[in-house]
Amino acid sequence: MHSDQQWWRDAVTYQVYLRSFRDGDGDGIGDIAGIRERLPYLAELGVDALWINPWYPSPMADAGYDVSDYRDIEPLFGTLDEARALIDEAHELGLRVVLDIVPNHSSDQHAWFQAAVAAAPGSPERARYMFRKGRGDDQSEPPNDWLSVFGGPAWEQLPAAADGTPGEWYLHIFAPEQPDFDWTNPEVRAEFESILRFWFDIGVDGFRIDVAHGLVKDPALPDLGEQHEGILQHADGRNHPHWDLDGVHEIYRGWRAVADDYDPPRAFVAEAWVDSAERLVRYLRPDELHTAFNFEYLSAPWRAAQIREVVDSTLATSTLAGAPATWVLSNHDVVRHVSRYAREQGTEPAHALASFVGKPADLELGTRRARAAALLMLALPGGAYIYQGEELGLWEVEDLPVDLLEDPVWERSGRTDRGRDGCRVPLPWVADSPGLGFAGEPDASATPWLPQPGGWRALAADVQAGDFGSMLELYRAALRHRRELFTGNGEFAWLDSPTEIIAFTRGDAACLVNFDGTPTALPPGFELVLASEALTADAQLPTDAAAWLVRSS
Ligand code: NOJ
Repeated sequence: MHSDQQWWRDAVTYQVYLRSFRDGDGDGIGDIAGIRERLPYLAELGVDALWINPWYPSPMADAGYDVSDYRDIEPLFGTLDEARALIDEAHELGLRVVLDIVPNHSSDQHAWFQAAVAAAPGSPERARYMFRKGRGDDQSEPPNDWLSVFGGPAWEQLPAAADGTPGEWYLHIFAPEQPDFDWTNPEVRAEFESILRFWFDIGVDGFRIDVAHGLVKDPALPDLGEQHEGILQHADGRNHPHWDLDGVHEIYRGWRAVADDYDPPRAFVAEAWVDSAERLVRYLRPDELHTAFNFEYLSAPWRAAQIREVVDSTLATSTLAGAPATWVLSNHDVVRHVSRYAREQGTEPAHALASFVGKPADLELGTRRARAAALLMLALPGGAYIYQGEELGLWEVEDLPVDLLEDPVWERSGRTDRGRDGCRVPLPWVADSPGLGFAGEPDASATPWLPQPGGWRALAADVQAGDFGSMLELYRAALRHRRELFTGNGEFAWLDSPTEIIAFTRGDAACLVNFDGTPTALPPGFELVLASEALTADAQLPTDAAAWLVRSS
């Protein structure tokens, strides 16, 4: 067993997408008051920690990932005092609180960027960001051919000076409202270490690091030579000029020292979209970050072979690093897994809407697979992440009215990609209330910032609570049993099984998942603890179902 200080080794962390979790003040937008109201729900669900998406003041060009002040709270979401109260109340319930830090870029409204724009080229103010002269005689061409992850060029030009000198260009790997910091500048490094301390002093238990693989850029800023930009480096392994450069590791060594300065030490989880488990473990060396999201697992199709392969590579590499594995099925950037699994499954990894739109979806099938996927994920060794609403079995809302879409991807893709709003729709709490009970007083009938589909009425938390066939009760039961069966040292070992059956033990407990078209027998010598579907009349595990078992005594 690990010590309590190493809680992150097998914690189940619930991702709170603040704007859509629960509206505590009746304006249609989720807030801190809403989280505080629902802490008992999270404690009852049985998770160990919450990770809250950015809650800092922000013009919301990218839903809060454009931060204008790293040491305060966005007024839409509440106040710093409310944040302090939330952290204390969560701790009283035994829940850890992880925040989201956005170090690759700030908002263009951040005081530093405003000062940079006002200052002259070559000034210390400009040196905190990536300002460069344009190309061409009149500097009207961007400094290189890099593209924004959200579409369009990755450079924006400032207006010309009064004397006609062309304005400099600044780099924004995401939206133009998100200028990239220059991490070669010691001032930037010192500032972020100070921001970490600010929140650690308040009692925050850790940070999720946004775009952890993107902070360092090749100083030569070479052309990319490609027409497309994703969040990953080149598939063929060539060095990429701004993803996963070796220089990022030194930054995290500094951050680890800050986290280790606290008692108990604080923890980090990296959002690092890198190409392989081998590249990922480099972030997890003992003097760097504690954990990282496992996007290979998230992106795997619902197929035994692919899942087995990712589990194997994850376990092999995390063991090498001495870091715990992590598992995740959904988050605020990807298509909800009910909807991914509702499609005919390919063989390639996929998580973005573009890979799924237009393909027929069988949500009943997706839900059934999601139930099995939950048991599989929660039985694997290491930590796991639950994205809000997956415990209710929510699906991706793929037909939101386009005039309500807020994700910058929609506009920047020339209105061809609807982006990520479909997984960010406000949670349904109460079936028979306006807005499915999303909003609280003074206006409980406030319209949620994105409309919920009618079909979610049947998925409201109050409908599912106490219904033992529901997704919510499956998650509650799983999180309860996980504590006895699958936490701690229960060594992982594959059980001999046919190709379409995933089966493994962890000490005396076992997990079995049936990907085959026909029911399968449970392994001898085990008793059933929990199953995602009822067993067949002759006690077999049906297709697309999972079971947890314990060795008979
Ligand atoms: C990753 C975040 O998860 C995503 O929502 C955001 O748009 C980008 N980073 C940019 O900060």
